[in-house]
Parts: sequence; structure tokens; C-alpha cells
Amino acid sequence: MRVAMIGTGYVGLVSGACFADFGHEVTCVDKDKGKIAAIERGEMPIYEPGLDDLVAANVRAGRLAFTTELKGPVADADAVFIAVGTPSRRGDGYADLSYVHAAAREIAAALSGFTVVITKSTVPVGTGDEVERIIREARPDADVAVVSNPEFLREGAAIQDFKHPDRIVVGTDSERAGEVMNELYRPLYLNQAPILVTGRRTAELIKYAANAFLATKITFINEIAELAEKVGADVQQVARGIGLDNRIGSKFLHAGPGFGGSCFPKDSVALAKTAQDNEAPLRIVETVIAVNDARKRAMARKVAAALGGDLRGRTVAVLGLTFKPNTDDMREAPSIPLIVALQDMGAKVRAYDPVGMAQAKAVLPDVTYCDDAYACAEKADALVLVTEWEEFRALDFDRLKAVMARPLVIDLRNVYRPDDMARQGFDYVSIGRPKNS
Ligand SMILES: NC(=O)c1ccc[n+]([C@@H]2O[C@H](COP(=O)([O-])OP(=O)(O)OC[C@H]3O[C@@H](n4cnc5c(N)ncnc54)[C@H](O)[C@@H]3O)[C@@H](O)[C@H]2O)c1
Repeated sequence: MRVAMIGTGYVGLVSGACFADFGHEVTCVDKDKGKIAAIERGEMPIYEPGLDDLVAANVRAGRLAFTTELKGPVADADAVFIAVGTPSRRGDGYADLSYVHAAAREIAAALSGFTVVITKSTVPVGTGDEVERIIREARPDADVAVVSNPEFLREGAAIQDFKHPDRIVVGTDSERAGEVMNELYRPLYLNQAPILVTGRRTAELIKYAANAFLATKITFINEIAELAEKVGADVQQVARGIGLDNRIGSKFLHAGPGFGGSCFPKDSVALAKTAQDNEAPLRIVETVIAVNDARKRAMARKVAAALGGDLRGRTVAVLGLTFKPNTDDMREAPSIPLIVALQDMGAKVRAYDPVGMAQAKAVLPDVTYCDDAYACAEKADALVLVTEWEEFRALDFDRLKAVMARPLVIDLRNVYRPDDMARQGFDYVSIGRPKNS
């Protein structure tokens, strides 16, 4: 099949490369000339394990191309994916659909022959109707079907997720479009990934409901962690104890500094807005948003408390800045409100992240960026572990103790064990576990 992927970001680039790897002929389109030029030089605009090799192999095989010009690839395509951003709209938190609508207008102008236009971006219920309306208004002659096909990949494991999805959701009533979708995903279908065909609005809601549910699970265990701290229980054992129940499941039960990233925060807010507008408010989701917002800044108070309450003149070393490991994505990372709050309280902040520092510098300019964990810890009064990159899982604590002003670790990901840390001579604070037990 011939595929045009509109938007070559985290989702578009990964999906485009994977579809090419399935054997389809894919052209990835992006308005950002710098991004396309970089990819053509073999430089990936994002950090995603395995992506550079996948892109290079498929470009070499002649199945994957990149351009800033939408017209030709759309005219030639059997399937056009919209994978542009849907950030939170400034001021009111609704999903900003201006990029989706603009893409729909550009696609409409270029359509030729039967084409399936597929929204892969995460969009509120009813957006498919609007995309279809835009296209039909601009091109009443077009032979087109508009489908919803939300994406569930996770940054950091995106290729694996795309190629081995738990399910593929296809929202359409059109038989012809369904056939094209089956053909596109045939290799996965053969791997027995279930394809769930639903109405378009249902597919749109599935994506938001999935993200809101996962955000709720994280927030639930974070609140249980708060309670565990107060009553002397261990949240990790609670999580294991409930997660072994198949009805609950063990994933997304890791207590931490609050969820962040490019999806959960904006998608839960957008879903809550849709629900309010439809007079079916989602109070659980609204509470999750509020609890999570409060939690991020509360993490700075946790650091302050560990340092006796006063951060003025103190130096805090932060390890890990991206919203999770194995990505360079800083969008809504918990490190941002944490660091800003530490600075508000008078602390000097040093930081190190294996791949996220270039992105971090744009949002956190007043931080001393360091070359590794040990340089970061120099003369620090406290070391805060914020993102659990692999290289932070086996730190040399003798080395850290030698360079730090005092041996204090605040582990917001529960990477280490309180008893081990006590043995290493560290004052150690973690999430939802008894101190130094
Ligand atoms: N990042 C994730 O992990 C993830 C996972 C699932 C779903 N999603 C959803 O997928 C969508 C894309 O997310 P992302 O993280 O890939 O965004 P992104 O910001 O990384 O990429 C979007 C790209 O679209 C380009 N673009 C915008 N308008 C364009 C146009 N008219 N023509 C061509 N290019 C255009 C931008 O230049 C940008 O490169 C969002 O709706 C997001 O919610 C993201």
C-alpha cells in the first residue's frame, strides 16, 4: 500500500518507519524543514531506541522517504495518516485541533482517487466528523473515507509497541476503508494482534479512556504511597499485593513523583473538558488531574523536609530530567515543576540526564548541567533521583559520598532499598516506604 504520514514527530516517524518495515511504501511529511533535513542526513530528531537503524534500513530498501511537500505523497496514497500534534490549548486546556484541521484542509486539496484518511493523533470525540466535513466541503468530488486509528505506543519502547500492540483500534463504518486498514496492519494481524473495529466516535473515546485509566492507576498508587508513609507501611509491597490480583494487574502501580509526558496530562484534561461539555462530568478524572498537579510541587517540599525545611543556600543535584527513561521528551516532565519549586525555595540546582539535557535547557535555563551523575553530585547537599534511567540503577555510592557535601539521597522512583542505603551510610528518603527501614 502507498502511505502518506502527515506529521513526522514521535508517532509519525515511528509509525511511518514501522509501516515501511511491514513492506508498505511510505512517505513521511513534515512542515518542519529542519527536521526533514536532519532525518535525510540520517540524524533522528528524537531519541528512540532502534529508530535510526529502522529508518536507515527502510530508506535503503526504497520503502521510506521524507519530504516537506504534502501534495504529491497524498495524491499517490491509498492511506493518509494524520499524526500531527494535539497539544493543550493555551488558557482552557481543550485539545488544540488547529494542526489537525489545517492538515485536513491540505490533504483535501491534494486527494486523488479512493483514499482513506486516518486520524492517528489523539483527538476528542467528534474530530473525525469535523475532519470529514472539512474534506467534503473543500472537495465534494473526493472519494474518501475518514477513519480513527488511535496510537497506543509508548515513547522509549515505541517500535516494539507498534509492532507488537496489545490491540489495534479501527473506528469506521466503511467496508472499503476497513479493507485498507486490514491490509495496512496485515503483518500484525498475522501475529494475532486483535483488531477491534468500532464506530469512529467509539475509537476516539477508547484512546482517551485508556490514557485516563492509566493516569488514574498511577495516581491511585501515589495516594496510597502518601498514606503508607503516614502509617508505616511499604507501598511497593502493597502494589505487589494488589497487582498479583489479575483483576487489578501489576502494571502502572509504581509510586513516583506524579505522571508527566506528552500524553497523560493533556489527554486527561481534554477528556475532562469533553465530559463537562457533554454534561457527563468525569469526577474521577478531574480529581486525578488535581492530585497529580499538586503532587509534582509537593516533591520539592519532600526534598526541603529532608534538608530540615530550609533550602536557601543549599545545592540540590537532580538525576534524570525527561518524563521517563529512554526518551528525550521533556513535555510535562515532573522534573520541571520540581526544579522550579526548589529554585523558588532558594536552592541551587545541578542536573544530569543521559539524553534529555538539550531539551531541558530550553525549559530550565537556570540550572547547572553536568556531564555525569558524579559531576552532578559535587558539593550537593542532596541528590534527588527523578527519572530512573538504567545508568542510575547501580550508582557507586562510595564515589557519591566522597563528592557530596552530605550523604542524602531522595529517591522519587524507589530504585534503591532503604536498608542497603542505610548500610552505605546514606540518609535516604523514598516514596511510600518507611525511612531507612
Ligand atoms: N508521543 C507519544 O508517545 C504519543 C503516543 C500516542 C499518541 N500520541 C498522539 O499523537 C499525536 C502526535 O504526537 P507526537 O508526540 O508525535 O507530536 P510531535 O509534536 O512530536 O510531532 C508532530 C509533528 O507534526 C508536524 N506538523 C504539524 N502540522 C503539520 C502539517 N500540517 N503538515 C505536516 N506536518 C505537520 C510538526 O512539525 C511535528 O513535527 C498527538 O495527538 C499525540 O497526542 C502521541
